Amino acid sequence: MRIQNLIIPMAVSAASLALSGHVMAETWKMALGDAAGGTQYELGTTFADLVEEKTEGEVTIDLFPNGQLGSEQDTVNNASMGLLDLSVLAINNITPFSPTVGVMTLPYVIQGPEDARTLTQGDIGEELTQNTIRDAGVRILGWAYSGCRRLTNSTKPVATPADLEGLVIRVPKNEIMISAYQAWGVNPNPLAWSETFTALQQGVVDGQDNPYITIDAMKFYEVQDYVTESCYVFSMEPLIISEGKFQSLSPEMQELVLEAGQEATDHSYEYLLETEASIKERLVEEHGMEITQPANDEQEWIELATGIWPEFYDSIGGKEKLDEVLAALGRDPAPAE
Ligand code: MLT
Repeated sequence: MRIQNLIIPMAVSAASLALSGHVMAETWKMALGDAAGGTQYELGTTFADLVEEKTEGEVTIDLFPNGQLGSEQDTVNNASMGLLDLSVLAINNITPFSPTVGVMTLPYVIQGPEDARTLTQGDIGEELTQNTIRDAGVRILGWAYSGCRRLTNSTKPVATPADLEGLVIRVPKNEIMISAYQAWGVNPNPLAWSETFTALQQGVVDGQDNPYITIDAMKFYEVQDYVTESCYVFSMEPLIISEGKFQSLSPEMQELVLEAGQEATDHSYEYLLETEASIKERLVEEHGMEITQPANDEQEWIELATGIWPEFYDSIGGKEKLDEVLAALGRDPAPAE
């Protein structure tokens, strides 16, 4: 495994030597939207090490962190077209290509790591994986669990939706997340992940939301002072492989890659549980970030944001799909429309 830090041209093609029968040495390319050091990197490096070990060095994987191979949404297109082998990216950046996956980004549906694991590792996760192959031409091999998305900004403590007034918040290009902010009374600025740090640094936007581990890996503490400990979306970051690439592999190789994805997923879950609290502490103690709790146990945020659910029933496969997800999490069905 090699970590690449050079900017290289967008048209990155894999060595593309099919592992069918006779095994030939080859190198695969993996894009990471985040900088080295976070949950994406942990999933990616664990997977790469496992594949190299299991193939006894016949396959090596080069990682390109920090959006070097394009925005997260670009990497889905590139993998779908067979120009890129692998990518780790946030689930919200797959939703535009495979709308049913949006059920995982509906505000306040997934409320913590256990919910995230239950959904991704059960029948619903399998169904969404199949939908993503069908809709986007990429296969989910594994999951990084990154934690609740926390709102950060450079200007003031934010405890209520009304406190957002006057702030320009960056959101991913994701209709559900845009709509959540609109429900809280502001018009957010949808920007690609790869442009976010610079936009925060230059004051084009005042804030954004992402988990503590991502805030740390991306060094957002250099340009953001305040964190609101909200949890409207739990961030999950799948490792995807180009379906064309996957289908070009021998059955043994496919099996090996799926196994490595599962083992890397299990590792990612433990990594989150072991590191999130100390990373949060470091953001406060070493980097001076100020944490604010959402007022009234986040009730006002929750009521406004869950009000957008019905807008997205058609795209996620109907209210019954959300109810199925809520039932899998041991919760009541969504309110009748
Ligand atoms: C985003 O905000 O676009 C993503 O969640 C960033 C990430 O992949 O960490």
